[in-house]
Amino acid sequence: MAININSLFDVSGKVALVTGGGSGIGTMATEALVSAGCKVYIASRRLESCQAVADEFNAEGPGSVIALQADLSTEEGTKALANAFASHEDQLDILVNNSGTTWGAPFEEFPRSKWDDVMALNVSAVADLTKNLLPLLRRAGTADNPARIVNLGSVVGTRPASNQAYSYGASKAAIHHLTRMLANEFGSMHVTVNAIAPGPFPSRMMAHVIRDDARKKAMEARVPLHRCGEAEDIAGLLLMLCSRAGSYITGGIIPLDGGLSAMP
Ligand SMILES: NC(=O)c1ccc[n+]([C@@H]2O[C@H](COP(=O)([O-])OP(=O)(O)OC[C@H]3O[C@@H](n4cnc5c(N)ncnc54)[C@H](OP(=O)(O)O)[C@@H]3O)[C@@H](O)[C@H]2O)c1
Repeated sequence: MAININSLFDVSGKVALVTGGGSGIGTMATEALVSAGCKVYIASRRLESCQAVADEFNAEGPGSVIALQADLSTEEGTKALANAFASHEDQLDILVNNSGTTWGAPFEEFPRSKWDDVMALNVSAVADLTKNLLPLLRRAGTADNPARIVNLGSVVGTRPASNQAYSYGASKAAIHHLTRMLANEFGSMHVTVNAIAPGPFPSRMMAHVIRDDARKKAMEARVPLHRCGEAEDIAGLLLMLCSRAGSYITGGIIPLDGGLSAMP
């Protein structure tokens, strides 16, 4: 048989960097990659959150986690993380651009500063970090086994939500489009670029909804599959995108939203 089913989803031994790995979806992505045998660097402002995740997952393996401190809201911060990573590794197999932030306010009162903050982290930092790490991704990628970039988009980048998160929705639509643009350009470098577009998942960003039972139930009722996303949902799609199974997928904005983006 031509298909080796045992290695189709194998990512063991790969080196990954997950931004925002110390909480929410970033921790779910880290758990998936460590459980599958990757060496995973995680980075965000709060080193203690990242270190706690590293301690927990290092005790379980089979992969490993290294915690780094990084503030990606500035160009200097993205450069510093790329340099810190490059001082440990000379190539990068998987980059998960996950760090993100949001803000909500009535449109007429929406502060300019919250356009700047959200766009800086959710869009500019993704572009900067990807640019700074591209040489290491190119070194890792081959025609048979490209390096992988996975950006975190959102269902609200595909389909408008009436949640007053104007800069957030616009930033996620921008990430979807940047994903397609970079996929076109990086194909010949043996680097794939895809976006996961989640619906609701438990995280700090969603804590105000998840902690309130009535709001959580109302939110779940709006999802065609009637539930929030879980760690296994992130793991299934991420491992597919990062293994042989996903090596012919690039430029995809892949819904992981229980059907929300397909609603009329
Ligand atoms: N949860 C959902 O329902 C959902 C749905 C669609 C898309 N998403 C996307 O999924 C991604 C992860 O979000 P989440 O829901 O897991 O929320 P979260 O738990 O709030 O995670 C956001 C992460 O970003 C990091 N971060 C924030 N500011 C940063 C900065 N200046 N520099 C570096 N890292 C920074 C945070 O760590 P520090 O505070 O330590 O810096 C945190 O780990 C985001 O891109 C989000 O837009 C989430």
